[in-house]
Amino acid sequence: MNYSKRHFCGQLTADHVARTVQLCGWVDAYRDHGGLLFIHLRDRSGIVQIVFTPETTPAAICRESAMLRAEYCIAVSGEVKNRLAGTENPHIETGRLEVVVHDMEILAEAEPLPFAISDKSMVAGAETTGKEAVSEELRLQYRYLDIRRPAMHHNLLLRHRIFQCVRRFLDERGFVEVETPVLTMSTPEGARDYLVPSRVHQGSFYALPQSPQLFKQLLMIGGVERYFQMARCFRDEDLRPNRQPEFTQLDLEASFIDEEFLYKMIEELTVKMFTLGGITLPRPFPRMTYAEAMDATGSDRPDLRFGLRFVDVTDLFVNTDYAIFRQILQRGGCIKGINIKGQSDKLSKNVLQNEYAKEIAPSFGAKGMTWMRAENDRLESNIVQYFSEAELAGLKKRFAVADGDVLIMVADPSYAIVTSALGQLRLHLAHRLGLIPANSFHPVWVTEFPLFEATEEGGVTSSHHPFTAPDRTDFDPKNIEELLALRSRAYDLVVNGEELGGGSIRINNRDLQRKIFAALGLTEEETKEKFGFFLRAFDFGAPPHGGLALGMDRTVSMILQTPSIREVIAFPKNRSAACPLTGAPSKVKREQLAELGLLNLGGKAILPGSAAKENLLDRVSWVSRIGVNAEERPLLEDILRQSRELAAAVETLAVDEEPIRSPAPAAHRLRPGTEAQRSPFAASGQLFKNAPAVKGDYFKVATILE
Ligand code: AMO
Repeated sequence: MNYSKRHFCGQLTADHVARTVQLCGWVDAYRDHGGLLFIHLRDRSGIVQIVFTPETTPAAICRESAMLRAEYCIAVSGEVKNRLAGTENPHIETGRLEVVVHDMEILAEAEPLPFAISDKSMVAGAETTGKEAVSEELRLQYRYLDIRRPAMHHNLLLRHRIFQCVRRFLDERGFVEVETPVLTMSTPEGARDYLVPSRVHQGSFYALPQSPQLFKQLLMIGGVERYFQMARCFRDEDLRPNRQPEFTQLDLEASFIDEEFLYKMIEELTVKMFTLGGITLPRPFPRMTYAEAMDATGSDRPDLRFGLRFVDVTDLFVNTDYAIFRQILQRGGCIKGINIKGQSDKLSKNVLQNEYAKEIAPSFGAKGMTWMRAENDRLESNIVQYFSEAELAGLKKRFAVADGDVLIMVADPSYAIVTSALGQLRLHLAHRLGLIPANSFHPVWVTEFPLFEATEEGGVTSSHHPFTAPDRTDFDPKNIEELLALRSRAYDLVVNGEELGGGSIRINNRDLQRKIFAALGLTEEETKEKFGFFLRAFDFGAPPHGGLALGMDRTVSMILQTPSIREVIAFPKNRSAACPLTGAPSKVKREQLAELGLLNLGGKAILPGSAAKENLLDRVSWVSRIGVNAEERPLLEDILRQSRELAAAVETLAVDEEPIRSPAPAAHRLRPGTEAQRSPFAASGQLFKNAPAVKGDYFKVATILE
């Protein structure tokens, strides 16, 4: 077989008819018609039918072809022919053609498959195959087979095209692709670091980058002016469908620019990327401040594909007689609601009261939920009698109520609880009522985030990262209230409620950067130790700069509309951050740990072979994980010495003495009367005291996200 003369299966056209072609690929499917064998031959370009027929194919090849099974890797040569009328297959692009085989070589055999790869039926009008539900774990374990599936091929190919598009786009605008280190110092992005031990500097660790943030800023100080990188980032955090422990960012940074430069350029680039998936994004991308997004949707990742925006009705109830609202407002609370237009036939009183008010709203953190249904020009509900006519009229006007509408309201002393609970109800209702149109894409820039968030310990932490420029610089780093009121020059790109990317204009003044570290509670010393090298760079003329990172796995997954980002990553980790294919993470040999100085962290490393030289008590203590303090040492050392002497004495005993192996036969015994017992707390309800929600004899756990 001369591979250089090879044709691609999916690229054969009517022009090839009557020509002899050479093809290679995998047996996608086969049909044996007693002497006449049809095979779907698949390579990365597509599928073509090949035929082994006793009329034209040499007898030896026909005999050999009988051995072919799914996923055998073969090379064939043969003549391209038009199929007989009525035998064309519309499932494949080359369905009007077939190749009558003259010669074949089996390049590699394949064992029976763990799951079907073929998804193209060989017969016109038949159901597409390959619909069997294969567990993702099995797909990941045999990822190389999974990748043979055309759907996965398509995902990887589009990912490649999007990456190429990004590179071209940025190159044309003067951005330079620079690689930054993977073995590095910790970068603060809010997740845990993956650490890599150093053999040379025992007891010291590199951190894998959570992002190239510090390096891209140093590149700006280095005068690169416009940088980008398809950067691998590593974050040890709880996994979700849109998170992976290692993922790829389009990371970029530019000097002498402002927010508008980035908004415009990233909008243009995002539109281009989505076009590759056949999606036209509406332009210009709207903008919402963080406060507007929270006020209207209860989320800093607003999903704008549907309405259900919040309406504030706090002021309508300032003099209310309804005790619950009155008490909440007396405690400085607020009341917000949503009008679910024209859905009262799908949201009965029973559903609203027993599902939403009693179960779903509390599971989202609300203490309660008020609902009303508009019928015959009146608002109906279980508590409507507690409201005055003026209040009800106020609600009708504020929510622009029409018959068939349903109002839901959440009131709470905490603004955060109202927005968070109502935000989750908004999404829940939109999904339940089918209010999210398919194939609609709504990007939005979210701006003016708070610079800091409060910590449980009474301090603050950066909402984005500590290098983000604040909206003002004249703040007191010790005044927590003032710090929490600061806004940042950060921005997020959100599409359909998913954060695709985020960035900020950075601090380029060393004193301001120091002030931020001080606000975060870092002492001068800690700042120096963690960021000394970085701050030092600001002593040498740091230009104004800013940038952003787009999560490429999320972007590609959204363009391809896959259920999780794992579908667009060749070899992703599973939901527990492991790789079912390679078995990573895996145990390593003691020798390797010893070499890295990891056997006895904090003390001296114990090299294999040196065990005999060690102090025996230390070794027993290490193996048993029981600490021994100085006071106990003399006694325990004495016991060990006696044990060793005894062991030595036993060795010298008469050899024909049969050693006693076990003083008593081992057995599994159950104590009588040990039946399962019900806790007395269960009967009194005490057992579920702290459960978020209880149903009958069960308590509920947090919603499973995937
Ligand atoms: P940020 O932390 O917001 O910003 O990350 C930027 C984008 O990266 C994607 N992303 C992830 N994708 C998959 N799996 C993950 N675990 C994961 N974590 C984040 C998201 C996110 O929007 N250095 C800053 C950027 C900057 O300021 O320029 C940063 O990393 O799509």
